[in-house]
Amino acid sequence: MNTSRNRYLKDNDPDKFRTFGRAKGRPLSPAQSELFETLYPKIQIDCSETGAPLKGLDGFAEIWFEIGFGGAEHLIWQAEHNPRAAVLGAEPFEPGVAKALRGVQEKALANVSLQHGDARDVLGALPDSSLDKVLVLFPDPWPKSKHHKRRLINEPFLTEVHRVLKDGAEFRFGSDIIHYVDWTLTRVHAHGGFTWSPKSQSDWRVRGEDWPETRYLAKALREGRTGHFFKFDVRK
Ligand SMILES: C[S@@+](CC[C@H](N)C(=O)[O-])C[C@H]1O[C@@H](n2cnc3c(N)ncnc32)[C@H](O)[C@@H]1O
Repeated sequence: MNTSRNRYLKDNDPDKFRTFGRAKGRPLSPAQSELFETLYPKIQIDCSETGAPLKGLDGFAEIWFEIGFGGAEHLIWQAEHNPRAAVLGAEPFEPGVAKALRGVQEKALANVSLQHGDARDVLGALPDSSLDKVLVLFPDPWPKSKHHKRRLINEPFLTEVHRVLKDGAEFRFGSDIIHYVDWTLTRVHAHGGFTWSPKSQSDWRVRGEDWPETRYLAKALREGRTGHFFKFDVRK
């Protein structure tokens, strides 16, 4: 059996380096609780062993994984507009998962699987070269230098993302925090397994049509920050 799952989690003990803020919001409404009890078990990602997250996904043309989907606006949009892709999503913030569940129900989506928890557990259970897209959109910035170690993007994380992506696959990253953009570009470049070939500044300054805005990004723009949008190609 591939033991990379255990190796990865040891390097990134989430108790030591928690990458997210709040996991709970207001108490769930009765309707939200019901979705957690009825719908969530049906579409929950199984992380029990290597390969388990992909069970039942053979019929899909592509498999994508959105890490930290927040309010799920982007995840639900992608799943609705790309029915031939299986869209996996992980998010520890309970109200975010509740929104994703409601979106899946309202739009009767049959291509979404969710993990209410740390995306690194899903990554660790994915086989090598099994995904077509990994999306990390506007990860928590952790602006204070003493908190930089909590940033999701770090060397072991990029190694893991690269491991699970196929040759030629896409790693999508966005941020409204210029320090996090520099941080990520430096680490992506140092990794060596990703290529980025912008043709002009608009490549990373303009949000593409296949990149819907989320509430988080709308708030950042209202507050005067700018979005930066990157699509890296995986080279193996
Ligand atoms: C700033 S929000 C952005 C949300 C969304 N991607 C967007 O663009 O609107 C970052 C999200 O990443 C989630 N997150 C942080 N660490 C995570 C992890 N290890 N696994 C999964 N999600 C994580 C947080 O809970 C939070 O919802």
